[in-house]
Amino acid sequence: MTLCRTLRARLALQYAGVLALLLCLFSAGVYFGLRTVLGRNLDASLWSIAESEVASASDAPDGAVHFHEVSPNPLRAGGVARLDKLVQLRTFPQGRLVGKSRTLGASELPLSAQARARLARGEVVFETVRTPASPPIRMISLPISVQGEVRYVMQVGASLAPLQTTLRRLLGVLLVLDASALGLTALAGSFLARRALRPIGQLVRTLERIEGQSLHRRLAVVTPHDELGRLTTVLNRMLDRLERSFRSQQRFIADASHELRAPLASVQLALELALRRPRTAQEYRQAVQSALEDVAHLSRLVEDLLTLSRADSGKLEIARRPVPLASLLQQVVAAFAQRAKEKQLEVAVAVPEVVVAGEPALLFRLFANLLDNALRYTPAPGQITLTGAADADVVRVTVRDTGIGIPAEHLPRIFERFYRVESERTRETGGSGLGLAICQEIVRAHGGTLTVTSTVGQGSAFTVSLPLYNRLV
Ligand SMILES: Nc1ncnc2c1ncn2[C@@H]1O[C@H](COP(=O)(O)OP(=O)(O)OP(=O)(O)O)[C@@H](O)[C@H]1O
Ligand SMILES: [Mg+2]
Repeated sequence: MTLCRTLRARLALQYAGVLALLLCLFSAGVYFGLRTVLGRNLDASLWSIAESEVASASDAPDGAVHFHEVSPNPLRAGGVARLDKLVQLRTFPQGRLVGKSRTLGASELPLSAQARARLARGEVVFETVRTPASPPIRMISLPISVQGEVRYVMQVGASLAPLQTTLRRLLGVLLVLDASALGLTALAGSFLARRALRPIGQLVRTLERIEGQSLHRRLAVVTPHDELGRLTTVLNRMLDRLERSFRSQQRFIADASHELRAPLASVQLALELALRRPRTAQEYRQAVQSALEDVAHLSRLVEDLLTLSRADSGKLEIARRPVPLASLLQQVVAAFAQRAKEKQLEVAVAVPEVVVAGEPALLFRLFANLLDNALRYTPAPGQITLTGAADADVVRVTVRDTGIGIPAEHLPRIFERFYRVESERTRETGGSGLGLAICQEIVRAHGGTLTVTSTVGQGSAFTVSLPLYNRLV
């Protein structure tokens, strides 16, 4: 829930942040744009007033200089303030005052040195005059030429106060609008984000309730095609995989304990029987002998379990050394020669002298397991052949026997851990059903494949393909 809330707040904040930036840019554009337009309009009005004042300044019958007077206090009508113009006429270049409007009262509009220089060149000068007491005044100085020389300067000014008031009001309106838009967006963003994230909260709650005992539970896929639906489907698939691996781990542990229990019970029984009453040396030797066989079986089993658990954690060490295949197989066959002879089985090897890449000890174990099975499940008289064929990349070795074969329905499962075709039959022969699972892991770790074909009553063929050393180095 905390995550949801944080994500929601983050989304809403990001929306509001982007909007705030846009609003700032927009408002700044409106404010400065309007300020420029209003300033220009004021200048244009001042210019036209100045020109009309020039035209009418001396049209009085007595010839005296006069201006269009307005009352000093600005008039207002319907919220519109009249432009309170200040007019004065000076001689140039002396700057002597010829006349001024009543709106100026005792004060007068200044004539700066800079303005004088420009007026002398016949230029119209706009200035903003700042006085500490009243608001700034925008002022135009218009040169009046007589016979080609600037003789007079008409100065017209107007207070900037109305313009500043307008801009201040605009700023206020923009601020209020921006703040409300921001607030509303943050609220709406938070609301929408909450609605969008609500299904995630439900997912989290369901996932929290799933544990070892309820791994079969799945998440409800409400909208299969959107992002959330896809997330739910992926999570469900992950749960499938977790459940499968959890169940197989459970089965593995149960099977392993079961397999370990039988030889342990057997050792215990042999030793208890031996101790029940005084025995002859011969009897003690037999008891120890039997216990030793069980212990050997146990240690083989533990060794197999260790190999599989290393394979599971990806720690099966593959050195990728060059291994001459034919001589390796000769060694494997030699190790089983005595057993083959006892069982009256013929073992023949016909493998090309190729070099495969891998770990010799593991490859030895792979073929030993296959040969062990062939010997174990082939009754006398029978034949076991190890044949090989290599192409440019891989070599395929087939271990074929003329034994009892494997029924088709069992074939897909014989590589599973602890799987035996007939558990009763194999219990007598001592197999625990791990041999082929280990073969499979070894082949996989070497980047090869292991396949089987079999016909009941005729025999089986296990084919291992392994990458050649030359191809990998
Ligand atoms: N060559 C074969 N002929 C007939 N059946 C076979 C052959 N190889 C394997 N099987 C069947 O497949 C089962 C699994 O073989 P696997 O080697 O994994 O186990 P195991 O031989 O029973 O025990 P382990 O090898 O762990 O001592 C065997 O129990 C057996 O039923
Ligand atoms: Mg086996």
